[in-house]
Amino acid sequence: MPAPFEAVKVSEHVYWVGAIDWGIRDFHGYSTSRGSTYNAYLIVADDIILVDTVKAPFKDELLSRVASVVDPHDIRYVISLHSEMDHTGSLPQVLREVEPEKVFASRMGVKALTDHFHMDREIIAVGDGDILALGGVDLTFLETRMLHWPDSMVAYLARDHLLFSQDGFGMHLAASERFADEIPDSVLVEEGERYFANILLPFSPLVLKLLERVSNLGVEIDIIAPDHGPIWREDLGKILGLYSKWATQEPANKAVVVFDTMWGSTEKMAGAIGEAMTRGGLKVVLLPLKSSHRSDVAAQLLGAGALLVGTPTINNMMFPTVADVLTYLEGLKPKNLVGAAFGSYGWSGEGAKLVGEALDRMDVEQVRDPVRVKYVPDDEALEACGDLGAAVAKRMKEVANE
Ligand code: FEO
Repeated sequence: MPAPFEAVKVSEHVYWVGAIDWGIRDFHGYSTSRGSTYNAYLIVADDIILVDTVKAPFKDELLSRVASVVDPHDIRYVISLHSEMDHTGSLPQVLREVEPEKVFASRMGVKALTDHFHMDREIIAVGDGDILALGGVDLTFLETRMLHWPDSMVAYLARDHLLFSQDGFGMHLAASERFADEIPDSVLVEEGERYFANILLPFSPLVLKLLERVSNLGVEIDIIAPDHGPIWREDLGKILGLYSKWATQEPANKAVVVFDTMWGSTEKMAGAIGEAMTRGGLKVVLLPLKSSHRSDVAAQLLGAGALLVGTPTINNMMFPTVADVLTYLEGLKPKNLVGAAFGSYGWSGEGAKLVGEALDRMDVEQVRDPVRVKYVPDDEALEACGDLGAAVAKRMKEVANE
């Protein structure tokens, strides 16, 4: 009986044997509206090598794809590039079923796999710059600590000029196509940017160093094979250039206004601020939190130069949805932003002040003290909101000329 899942040939020695998760919509708090893939790769040389596994529920899909090429019991070596469970959830079961001779991970990966799975088997550590000759092919390992976990590493297969880039250059995108050149550019840019903004943004300086390091390797890279989404085999400069742009976080002529509202007052303020910034020449995106996910906000903020956050006050606090998105954004450490806080209140009005304190912690340069309106904004209050928007637009122009 033919295997229900097929491997896809990537290069002379490499097959894609991963899994497609069409249904996932929440990846640890990141809204994955197009699903995802967990990519694993089979190197078929003198020996058979499995690079990464898949999330636990997809173990049978992985082994079925392997079986379309070789008997899974022929896998002699398993390499784990990253211990997060979307790539290792099935590892213990795969090891039990396949019984490979050796398992490799980075030094930190050995510890992380032990702490995750408490397995009674040896995992061999490979170090930064190590070259392993396995099955007649050489694999060079580069540790990429904190990109995006401490254990992360990438591997270069010299024979095929192929970089197994693990989470780097990936995206959450379920598709029947395996290669980036089969998918519209608009989708690649949108999902690649969304992935970078939600996963890699805090480590932007490390991304820039990695790009430099890969370029200094002096090796030819024809294929980049990530652990999520499509494989890059044409025009690699495009994705490398996008990563360089996203990691640099240069201020752009765009403002993001994030807000929630109880009875419509903070929404009116957001509208007046947005209109004034548009008149001031900015591209403006309003993200009402009743209909915008925190990962939409992160994605919109990558490539923006201004962040304005509005909240009503509820029980002396900011609105819970605003607290959620600020907690998320603070962890992502966006850079080079100007902005402001605003919001309506009924009694004491702490909400906008608390948002201002959060923006301070994020090093957002606030152009004004928080703008607050009691109950419902009148014409004068809306004018003050317009002044705030105009001040942000003016400051953005100054920043662009600095
Ligand atoms: Fe795709 Fe960090 O795991």
